[in-house]
Amino acid sequence: MSDLQSETTSFGFKDVPKQEKASLVRGVFDRSARKYDLMNDFMSLGIHRAWKNMTIDRANPQPGEKLVDVAGGTGDLARAFIAKAEQRRKQQGGESATAVVTDINEQMLLAGVKRGNADNLAWAVGDAEKLPFDDKCADCVTIAFGIRNVTNRVQALKEMRRILKPAGRFLCLEFSRPTTRALERIYDAWSFNAIPYLGEKVAGDRDSYQYLVESIRRFPHQDAFADELREAGFGQVGVTNYSGGIAALHTGWRI
Ligand SMILES: C[S@@+](CC[C@H](N)C(=O)[O-])C[C@H]1O[C@@H](n2cnc3c(N)ncnc32)[C@H](O)[C@@H]1O
Repeated sequence: MSDLQSETTSFGFKDVPKQEKASLVRGVFDRSARKYDLMNDFMSLGIHRAWKNMTIDRANPQPGEKLVDVAGGTGDLARAFIAKAEQRRKQQGGESATAVVTDINEQMLLAGVKRGNADNLAWAVGDAEKLPFDDKCADCVTIAFGIRNVTNRVQALKEMRRILKPAGRFLCLEFSRPTTRALERIYDAWSFNAIPYLGEKVAGDRDSYQYLVESIRRFPHQDAFADELREAGFGQVGVTNYSGGIAALHTGWRI
């Protein structure tokens, strides 16, 4: 790589050498793993649950399907996918759905296992940029609030497409850009003041939560990220804003 810019990447508002980002991100989630679920509820006032439920409704889980949830942390999406497929299985019959939660950070997975496991739920340490799965093994691949932590997003998107079966679906839930100035002002005030404060008081860790807020601001706009999905090879790319664009669901298909 010739220019200096391509050798660095964002870590919150800082630019750091690309090779350092993964270990800095790992440090953030090592420190926040124990209080992760509690802090999610505080920071989003519980709204992340509604966004995740809407994501799983759009994933439309079916009996017998296999989900891989990348950067899956404590497993919220995987559990919701299995539960929804199970409801369908009771009506329609068929096999149980299965899900694998994969995450680069073992501490996050261990916090998830502690919350409760299930026979059809598996956990695997893995980097989104080099997933430890065979080609075309999954009916559905999801990633929630994970892609902005990855160093090379397009590489990770290509990996998630690689493991999808043909006609498989991809759903990416991520913080995004509020669609009005008024909402942006309220959101900025909340996130730059309340979230680091809550991080300090609830989790004893202001810096990790300052990083989370900053990393959201460095993440591309809805349209620019949709272009990255296309660059990675996804077809039928779509975007749905949630809560006025505070979060957005990006979808695509392996065609
Ligand atoms: C904000 S948490 C989201 C967890 C979960 N998906 C949720 O929505 O609750 C971000 C997760 O991304 C994981 N992560 C960061 N970089 C990663 C990478 N390169 N590959 C896989 N997981 C990564 C972190 O360890 C962390 O668990």
